[in-house]
Amino acid sequence: MTKFKSVETKYMEARESALRALGKLDRRDFLRVSTAVLGATLAKGILNPHGFSTIQVANAQAPKDAFRVAYISDSHLYEKKINDRFVNQLMRAVDDVNALDPQPDFVLYGGDLAQLGAPKELELGAQILKNLKAPVRMMVGEHDWYLDMGEKWRDLFGAPNYSFDHKGVHFVVLNSVVEKDFWTARGLTPQQRMQTVAGLDNSVQSPFSVGDEQRKWLTDDLARLAPTTPLIVFSHSPLYKLYRPWNFWTEDAEQVQAILGRFKNVSVVHGHTHQLLTNRIGNIHFHGMLSTAWPWPYAPEGLPPLTVQMSRPDPFNPHDGIGDGTLTVHPDALIDKLYNLWNRNPITVTRNYLVSKGTKDKPTPPPLKSY
Ligand SMILES: [Fe+2]
Ligand SMILES: [Fe+2]
Repeated sequence: MTKFKSVETKYMEARESALRALGKLDRRDFLRVSTAVLGATLAKGILNPHGFSTIQVANAQAPKDAFRVAYISDSHLYEKKINDRFVNQLMRAVDDVNALDPQPDFVLYGGDLAQLGAPKELELGAQILKNLKAPVRMMVGEHDWYLDMGEKWRDLFGAPNYSFDHKGVHFVVLNSVVEKDFWTARGLTPQQRMQTVAGLDNSVQSPFSVGDEQRKWLTDDLARLAPTTPLIVFSHSPLYKLYRPWNFWTEDAEQVQAILGRFKNVSVVHGHTHQLLTNRIGNIHFHGMLSTAWPWPYAPEGLPPLTVQMSRPDPFNPHDGIGDGTLTVHPDALIDKLYNLWNRNPITVTRNYLVSKGTKDKPTPPPLKSY
């Protein structure tokens, strides 16, 4: 008797064969094979079963002049010979985004592409992200930076802070993981420095900041803009102070908020916290997005009241509590975000929910019991 295989099983088998092929390849060959496997997968009609089909519904309700940005973050890649699960999961996110119809205007990669900032980790990530059909904008995370102080990352992706305009919205990308020098006086090697930063909950490293230099750059960048200009800022760490012991924190957050405060509407979208997270401070709306690698628990205190809290992910299910997402950007720069959770129903948190301070459009949390 032929054993029935679920869509999920078929999908995972296709990805396994992609990974087996990946293990035998050098970097030059990767793109060709990955694309070929994706093509075969699409041809069989076994698209990601938890993919973005429901997004089409959410998107259909968006006004005509809204546009969509896809968001992938916190993949924490090791070299594939050490850990291919995180490689697999980033590839899955790439497949998700490539399956969007219509395609997003661009994809924002939210930082922590690598786990320990190694050139091979960053190169592997760059190769995988090249499979995205839509243009990609990169942001840096602390795991990408502290082995060589960003040398390899800059080689691959350019400056870590920049701005651009798109369809009437001004976008800013920041490097919010600037740390004070804790390594020289201690005589740490680059590897020890990176390992220290990678362990968030130690007292050796300094808190993250945007820093004097970049705040000056930001002030200058925004100086020409009227307060009514729709503004979206991408940062890796949240641009507010959530929980210092885990570095869910930006030390000069209030100073950055003061620079942004003169704008009527501002959205800040961040990675780093690997969880559903929503906050509002004055006119600034904050959106924390998912990781493709693992979920962090919620901080034991200080959770913003607007957060639609996900119940604790199943620790025995490596796909629970992770995924990717999309941002539907309204003309006023406020956002409907969709968390595309791979093991649960997607969750949309609308601009109206934040505008009404949580009194309207309250999203339904994931219907799983807490583990
Ligand atoms: Fe991360
Ligand atoms: Fe991070």
